Amino acid sequence: MIDLKKIQNVDIDYLTHIISTDRYDEEIFKTADEIRRKYVGEEVHLRGIIEFSNYCTQHCLYCGLRAENKNLARYRMSPEEIIERAKLIAQLGIKTIVLQSGEDPYYTTEMMCEIIQQIKKLDVAITLSLGERTFEEYRIWKELGADRYLMRHETASPQLYAKLHPGDSLENRKAHLYELKRLGYETGAGFMVGLPGQTPYDLALDLVFLKELDADMIGIGPFIPNPDTPLKDATGGDLQTTLRMIALARIVVPTANIPATTALGSINPLGRQYGLKYGANVIMPNLTPNPYRPNYSLYPGKICLFERDTACVECTKHMIKSVGLIVGEGYGYRKKTESLA
Ligand code: FES
Repeated sequence: MIDLKKIQNVDIDYLTHIISTDRYDEEIFKTADEIRRKYVGEEVHLRGIIEFSNYCTQHCLYCGLRAENKNLARYRMSPEEIIERAKLIAQLGIKTIVLQSGEDPYYTTEMMCEIIQQIKKLDVAITLSLGERTFEEYRIWKELGADRYLMRHETASPQLYAKLHPGDSLENRKAHLYELKRLGYETGAGFMVGLPGQTPYDLALDLVFLKELDADMIGIGPFIPNPDTPLKDATGGDLQTTLRMIALARIVVPTANIPATTALGSINPLGRQYGLKYGANVIMPNLTPNPYRPNYSLYPGKICLFERDTACVECTKHMIKSVGLIVGEGYGYRKKTESLA
């Protein structure tokens, strides 16, 4: 029997133990599903994602967008293109638009202000996922109506973080996440599973941090080595451990919005369906327009690349129904604890 209290209290030794084996998976998965049902219900929320630029000034060792990668055809969508795409997403009935890019200073504070203001007129929630920007920019964009900010912490091990992010520190990343929280954003953290050198203890640290931050959104995906990066020869994360971590995240932060990630669907054709069964309650259909879409190439084997522009919407709706859940209506903000039965 798993000790639920120890998981919820993020007992580091206990978490390390249950993460290091598949012995408890059946019980962990079942518990996560029950908690998902009790705390966030049967609705799965759709978030339409526009990956609007694959330029990046950063050097993350695992990422295909890293500045050093010369094998990638770079693109930037114009503000007009981004706004047009957002209109299409709103017309499709999707109530959250995620604007994601590499860390690309080409998009100035003012350009983002204009994009946010125009998109807010569409009666949608806006999630920004632009990497680290200045605290002042976070404040201005929040005031203009940006609702959420996604910025995975990637790993809560300070040593591993420093190795993977030359010139950066976990402490700095955490400072950004806490500032986003302080400003009132629904704040998304998250991590990769199967990074080179990552231990069960490191993964336990990830859960401790999610709880400490009280993450509103939690993105967890397997690490998938990209041939155009220094980690090309690494092994990568497996489905089972990734699902275990998603389920444990649901138990640790019961009301968080947790996506069944694209990376999960990329390592296994049914990866996202399993994610939805074991704690996830969000799906992010890819709505990056072609011809850009294939070039937002974080890792190889990424799904949805050559689909008809809007095919992922129908596909994800079908997927949700196929696991007995329902397609969410509304903005899908994080449920407040006090409204729980
Ligand atoms: Fe993209 Fe299925 S979700 S094709």
